Amino acid sequence: MGSYIETTENKTPPVFPRALEPYEIRPVADELGLTSTERKSLQNGWTIIKQKQRRAALNIYVNFFTEYEDLYEIFRFNGVLDIEFASQHQKDVLAVFQMIIEQLDNSRFVKTMVKELALRHRAASVSGTMWQLYTNEVKNYFLKTLNDALSPTFVHALDTLMNYICDFNEFNESRDDQSQQQELDKE
Ligand code: HEM
Repeated sequence: MGSYIETTENKTPPVFPRALEPYEIRPVADELGLTSTERKSLQNGWTIIKQKQRRAALNIYVNFFTEYEDLYEIFRFNGVLDIEFASQHQKDVLAVFQMIIEQLDNSRFVKTMVKELALRHRAASVSGTMWQLYTNEVKNYFLKTLNDALSPTFVHALDTLMNYICDFNEFNESRDDQSQQQELDKE
């Protein structure tokens, strides 16, 4: 009778433990295109902007309408400029961004909110381009304000989020153009 060592050495190799199949670990992006680290980074950045939210809202509004003065006309309802509405809108814009950023982990909510807002703006003749310009103003303000605290993750995440917000409207517009074209083709 051989020793224990001899007996085990002659055996076929064990079935377990088996080497794991190689697999790639990559960050998972949500429906908005953001990874969990990016969402966290946006939320961290927002905590700084939030401290001066009213000033941020005013700055973005002033910068925007100084550059695109003509667009102020969109706040003229029945021939009268509704300055009170415009001034409230200034705050509403940042309130929307606050909601988006604070609710980033709930991408369904964000998608629904952006969709509703986009439709509402379209009904009020606010074009996709106007929407994009304003979104861009918000983005530039965030970047300028966070200057020293910026990280590549934050910058990329902000880009992704703002593109999502802009593309949404573009998608609606191009879909509308398509259906208008189909109507024309039928005639
Ligand atoms: C990031 C971009 C924007 C956000 C987050 C935003 C946000 C909002 C919100 C929350 C409302 C609803 C206000 C209420 O019910 O009292 C609203 C309405 C409105 N916004 Fe904006 N807005 C944006 C861009 C713009 C731009 C660029 C314009 C035009 C220059 C504009 C013009 C209007 C108008 C005319 C309404 C009234 C719509 C209606 O009658 O239902 N918005 N916006």
